Amino acid sequence: MSTPTPAQAIPERNGHGDALARTVSNSFSNSSFGTQELGSSPQASFQSLASSHGTHQRPSTKQLKPFHTGDIKVLLLENVNKTGQDILRKQGYQVEAIKSSLPEDQLIEKIRDVQVIGIRSKTQLTASVLKHAKNLIVIGCFCIGTNQVDLKYAAENGICVFNSPFSNSRSVAELMIGEIIALARQFGDRNTELHNGIWNKVSAGCWEVRGKTLGIVGYGHVGSQLSVLAEAMGMKVIYYDVTNLMGLGLSNQVPTLDHLLQLADFVTLHVPEIPETTNMMSTHQFEQMKKGSYLINASRGSVVDIPALIHASQTGKLAGAALDVYPNEPGGNGAHFTNDLNTWTQDLRDLKNIILTPHIGGSTEEAQSAIGVEVAESLVKYVNFGITSAAVNMPEVTLRSLTMEEPNHVRVVYIHKNVPGVLRKVNEILGDHNVDKQMTDSRGDVAYLMADISNVNTSEIRELWQSLEDLGSRIRTRVLY
Ligand SMILES: NC(=O)c1ccc[n+]([C@@H]2O[C@H](COP(=O)([O-])OP(=O)(O)OC[C@H]3O[C@@H](n4cnc5c(N)ncnc54)[C@H](O)[C@@H]3O)[C@@H](O)[C@H]2O)c1
Repeated sequence: MSTPTPAQAIPERNGHGDALARTVSNSFSNSSFGTQELGSSPQASFQSLASSHGTHQRPSTKQLKPFHTGDIKVLLLENVNKTGQDILRKQGYQVEAIKSSLPEDQLIEKIRDVQVIGIRSKTQLTASVLKHAKNLIVIGCFCIGTNQVDLKYAAENGICVFNSPFSNSRSVAELMIGEIIALARQFGDRNTELHNGIWNKVSAGCWEVRGKTLGIVGYGHVGSQLSVLAEAMGMKVIYYDVTNLMGLGLSNQVPTLDHLLQLADFVTLHVPEIPETTNMMSTHQFEQMKKGSYLINASRGSVVDIPALIHASQTGKLAGAALDVYPNEPGGNGAHFTNDLNTWTQDLRDLKNIILTPHIGGSTEEAQSAIGVEVAESLVKYVNFGITSAAVNMPEVTLRSLTMEEPNHVRVVYIHKNVPGVLRKVNEILGDHNVDKQMTDSRGDVAYLMADISNVNTSEIRELWQSLEDLGSRIRTRVLY
């Protein structure tokens, strides 16, 4: 390894023939390593995260890019929200946005060329599609679910995946408030009756929600938002969660689900879909509930034993229920909510005071806009800085930003197979420089190492990159500076 030259020896990437910068940029595309001409200045067009959408950063934060932002090609499918498109365009990336998903052959043709792809739920990124994506470094799912992506294949090929799990929490919480009032006043039934020409003015069994007890099961993103809104309406809030959590406002945690069911007038479910929550509301739990209470489920369909709910409703134990999610849900809109989907569907449809909605808890314009921002910001942080915070299929690794006062530093990102002895070999390579900070973590078979090293001169960057690439454990190497 040659002797490091002083810090100032690393040239500014000003776009005037810095072949090295262009060469390192090809760590995105190993096949064309070092063969392309340098393009125009990246600095001129680059918008920092801070300047583009208000995130606070110290002014001296150094933007890391071994590439021209204009060289980053982004394909956005399925009408990704404009908020997300704008953030990516402001980076200077080449963004192609298409309103629909693409047939597989067209998708394969397009995906060959891009470093970034953004999709929603319809585009299937299977292993057979991804194997053509030789330049791809990151996938943004502009939605909640990620089961349309082969996450394992992506990780094993150094492709990081991001989504937006929590941008719609508020939308769900607001729907819950609407449904609590709707159930208490039976206005779903009154509305249906009047649509059928029936005037049925009643007050029996209709209630104000003020002073009633709301029992929230699962006090996470949705549950805690709901807690605040419900107290504002004068409700008393209790919650049950497997984790000990500080209650917001005057709300109180109770020790068991049975405690909650025995005390609550309204029970809402906001737990994840995991084996422990399958049918967590079944015959025993309905028996624990107060007579004349209400159940709302906007979490996942598997959480409620629906035949047990139908029984509790028919026997008058429940005064009403609202369901937004079901064990089986149709793939598209249409007249699909029949017994062909779930054998008990007609019994459910025939119940009194039951609100049935087609999984719309998080479906608002605001949620879509927030998803656009959240996912696009994750993509930018990954492309420009190597940060994997909130990644779905990679370990979460972050380091504080490099500053302009650290001009001869480079950031090494090394995605590798999680096998014994790798770190020793990597550190032998990095050891010729000052390793200022380093973080590594693994997830299954894949590990992610990020290190900021100093005293690196320009001529050494390619050598550094090549040495890491030559290790047998390598999945992908990126050198950002
Ligand atoms: N209807 C919709 O459109 C819609 C939209 C968003 C989220 N969701 C669903 O709502 C649910 C909650 O979402 P979130 O974002 O609040 O999730 P979250 O991860 O923020 O919170 C879930 C909470 O449940 C708790 N929990 C886990 N297992 C539990 C158990 N066995 N008993 C009690 N508590 C338990 C966790 O500790 C956590 O506090 C998820 O199932 C999510 O998929 C539905």
